[in-house]
Amino acid sequence: MHAMSNGKIYAAIRGAGHYAPERVLTNDDLAKVVETNDEWIRTRTGISQRRIARPDEYTSDMATAAARMALADAGVAPDEVDLIVVATCTPDMIFPATACLVQNALGCTHAYGFDLSSACSGFLMALETATGAIESGRVRTALVIGAEKLSSITDWTKRETCVLFGDGAGAVVVQASERPGILSSQMGVDGALADMLSLPASGCRHPASEQTLADRLHYVHMSGGKTFKSAVRVMADTAVQVVRDAGLTFDDIDLMVPHQANLRIIEAVAARLEGDLLPKCFVNLDRFGNTSGASIPLALSEAQTLGRIKPHDKVLMVAFGGGLSWGGIVVEWKP
Ligand code: UT7
Repeated sequence: MHAMSNGKIYAAIRGAGHYAPERVLTNDDLAKVVETNDEWIRTRTGISQRRIARPDEYTSDMATAAARMALADAGVAPDEVDLIVVATCTPDMIFPATACLVQNALGCTHAYGFDLSSACSGFLMALETATGAIESGRVRTALVIGAEKLSSITDWTKRETCVLFGDGAGAVVVQASERPGILSSQMGVDGALADMLSLPASGCRHPASEQTLADRLHYVHMSGGKTFKSAVRVMADTAVQVVRDAGLTFDDIDLMVPHQANLRIIEAVAARLEGDLLPKCFVNLDRFGNTSGASIPLALSEAQTLGRIKPHDKVLMVAFGGGLSWGGIVVEWKP
């Protein structure tokens, strides 16, 4: 917990934005490509449709669009930004970092930046990183972005995974503040479970070869059932811990924004927590699917647009994904 004391610099979210590609891919569309159906996808995941980026539309483009909206919401000019962190597992390229492409597109002439790789937990780890930089006094204004073109790493022949993912982006502007905005946080990883959810090739372990293509190693591989069980346990435990560390109870939480992987995971997490939390859970995976690092900021910004988040609301975010990795953050929105 970030205790209050005189002269301490706090970090606070001042604006949010999101972007989703125009093209909608419905469950019925998918049923034409793999052996699946709308009923199975809706009842097992809660997903009805997802957005798919154009072939010439990249993670950096979606990140830039979301960031532009977040800057406008915060009333911050691009040249005021000191730091850009892009959480993504689908960067435009291995390097340069997507953050550099965003910096150039926005004209953030005074910013440095980098990409952060932590799959579905990436946005919360990026927010935690930016918070530390701001609280240390080294950075005043940070753009924290989650953006993904998961359609580029989806195996469109595998029904177990291709029905789950979508493309999109979300962003927040975080600034130094006299009042605490980031109230508590908790992050974790367990690399012993790295094989549960991975994209095996494209790195140095399996450089691109005819064999890696034949073995379909450039796509997401996941043990769905095991991931599901770990997700429920870890997200519920993390939620309990960060709410307690913020000095709050679940009654004080105005909105919970969980990683949007599967409605059944969200329902199971809510059921494990004190109070009637499900009505406080923001869900948009029915329309966007699982957008990995983009899912929480896309949901945050959409929730604000829909009037579900107002200044001073206490918002609980929890995420879980490849690594394994997880995180939770409680914020007071625009304190
Ligand atoms: O982003 C963070 C990380 N990811 C997650 O959190 C995902 C976590 N896992 C899940 O959301 C779920 O495990 C899935 C949605 C991936 C799968 O749901 P499930 O209830 O665990 O299904 P299952 O894998 O146990 O499969 C049940 C059956 C199988 O058939 P049999 O063996 O019972 O005959 C599958 O082959 O459903 C079959 N199946 C499908 N059927 C129609 C699997 N995918 C599909 C499909 N359409 N798309």
